[in-house]
Amino acid sequence: MKIELRKTTVSDLDFVLAAESHPENCNYVYQWSYDEHVSSLSDNNLRHYVVESNNELLGYVILDQVNDRSGSINLRRLVVTKKNSGIGKQVLEQIKLIAFTELNAHRLWLDVFTDNLIAYNLYKKCGFREEGKLIDSYLRKDGYASQYIMAILKKEYTASQN
Ligand SMILES: CC(C)(COP(=O)(O)OP(=O)(O)OC[C@H]1O[C@@H](n2cnc3c(N)ncnc32)[C@H](O)[C@@H]1OP(=O)(O)O)[C@@H](O)C(=O)NCCC(=O)NCCS
Repeated sequence: MKIELRKTTVSDLDFVLAAESHPENCNYVYQWSYDEHVSSLSDNNLRHYVVESNNELLGYVILDQVNDRSGSINLRRLVVTKKNSGIGKQVLEQIKLIAFTELNAHRLWLDVFTDNLIAYNLYKKCGFREEGKLIDSYLRKDGYASQYIMAILKKEYTASQN
């Protein structure tokens, strides 16, 4: 299944909010209100995309700090609603292309909960290195959770394309 990333519009937000709060996803991604998503759509420092295939919405992804003076762009959120079909991998390939070519990033980084093995494995497979671990950095409903910081540099991305 071939997917496309398209800039999110207000009419996509019912889908985005349902995906974000769905029990399969809500323990792994931060939760924004409708108003926070609406204002993010016009925030110059953010890029908010939906994942689409044949007019069907299959997920969303948010980049943050796109104007960072050090070119360190944050992959802030990723949710795929149709899981285990290789969509996450395709989204990350397209996000790396956007970050390193269109937005001229030097570094693309993210945080992932240490118990989110599916996402961790996916990021590793897509070239992200583990840079460090933040211990008990986030209070969830089930107690304190730890996060890995993972990143890929432009030169690593370029080498992987050759
Ligand atoms: C994480 C997520 C985006 C993955 O999306 P996906 O489209 O299902 O992933 P893909 O089908 O592209 O899988 C790619 C890789 O992920 C890993 N993976 C997928 N399912 C897995 C599983 N059940 N166990 C371990 N690793 C798994 C594998 O490395 C897989 O590669 P492979 O199929 O070549 O072995 C999706 O599961 C999701 O939205 N999860 C909830 C929200 C979330 O965790 N977001 C990330 C926050 S940092």
